[in-house]
Amino acid sequence: MTKFSCCFGKVASRKGGVHRELLDVENMRLYTYKDLQIATQYFSPESKIGEGGFGSVYKGTLKDGSVVAIKVLSDESRQGVREFLTEITVISDIQQENLVKLHGYCVEEDHRILVYGFLKNGSLDQTLLGSGHCSIKFTWEIRRKICIGVAKGLAYLHEEIQPHIIHRDIKASNILLDEDFTPKISDFGLAKLFPSHLTHVSTRIAGTQGYLAPEYAIRGQLTRKADIYSFGILLLEIVTGRPNQNRRLPVEEQYLLERVWQLYREGNLELLVDTRIGEDVDIDETCRYLKIGLLCTQSLPKSRPSMSDVMKMLNGEMDVTDTDLSDPGLLNELMSTKTTKNNTSATSSSASGKQVDSSMYGDTTTSYANMSFTTITYR
Ligand SMILES: Nc1ncnc2c1ncn2[C@@H]1O[C@H](COP(=O)(O)OP(=O)(O)O)[C@@H](O)[C@H]1O
Ligand SMILES: [Mg+2]
Repeated sequence: MTKFSCCFGKVASRKGGVHRELLDVENMRLYTYKDLQIATQYFSPESKIGEGGFGSVYKGTLKDGSVVAIKVLSDESRQGVREFLTEITVISDIQQENLVKLHGYCVEEDHRILVYGFLKNGSLDQTLLGSGHCSIKFTWEIRRKICIGVAKGLAYLHEEIQPHIIHRDIKASNILLDEDFTPKISDFGLAKLFPSHLTHVSTRIAGTQGYLAPEYAIRGQLTRKADIYSFGILLLEIVTGRPNQNRRLPVEEQYLLERVWQLYREGNLELLVDTRIGEDVDIDETCRYLKIGLLCTQSLPKSRPSMSDVMKMLNGEMDVTDTDLSDPGLLNELMSTKTTKNNTSATSSSASGKQVDSSMYGDTTTSYANMSFTTITYR
């Protein structure tokens, strides 16, 4: 159960023109903007390690020598101090071995900054799926550990904490690896720091529309099943070592989900297992994982399993029943039909505010995001 352990006081001090409110968030350090400037050589381009929809990330070294990832939230997150603190208190209270821990924060003037521990084995998009050199050998043992760990972290967010959290942005760049390859999910809870219509922006910037469940992308209908869809895509990426979309491949192979579905129907799934995986691989198990990926990406949200069932399937505690498998939800197909249909009036707005028939989703909690089709077609 998540508890609020934050205490906000009145304005406590005004130092160097900086308005500092009394910010006492348990388990978290409050940094000054100056501390973080020093840690990152004044946010130098050399310290910058990435940029996503929520802002820029810098690698920094704090005064005590610890290495951190410093996330400077973009202007769209201009929340009041109190709202910001309320949200990050929720995030900081959530601690589980497969979730990145938030160490501290900075809130000064317009700055809203989060400080995380730096994970030196990087994110899966840079290592496993990256085009550059990677010194990590992703054996099957390591990949299995990553799949199960991510499933565990997501099951925790979905089913163990109250109120549960829908991540909304499960993708390879949000899976970080620690020294012993324990995966850690990052950026959970961040969507709450932004207005809902902007939370899709990260997918535009990172070009990651391939992770978006069709019902979420098109109608803005957000349930846990949207995360489960994204997890399914990630699972396929981990087993095959291929990004969900690769424009350099022949047209029929560009979309990973489409390709997996095709080879599944032909009974040739094993052809997709990453050849870099090494000798020590259990092909039956890898194919089972690909089938779980297909179950998670079923077009109908209700047909996707819950994360706790996914975990049982990954662990071998539950059979993977694929007899009822039907077509996966392929956003690119829907997009091309819809784009062609709507190319002159592609501004049909979202279903924001509409009731969703929860029986269709197999999930009683639904929140909404604003989304227009124009936004989608530009991703
Ligand atoms: N705690 C961290 N440790 C190491 N690298 C990180 C950490 N957080 C983020 N990164 C890196 O910074 C990059 C940008 O992160 P982010 O702003 O969350 O964008 P996105 O997840 O959309 O790629 C990520 O791809 C990741 O490689
Ligand atoms: Mg991220």
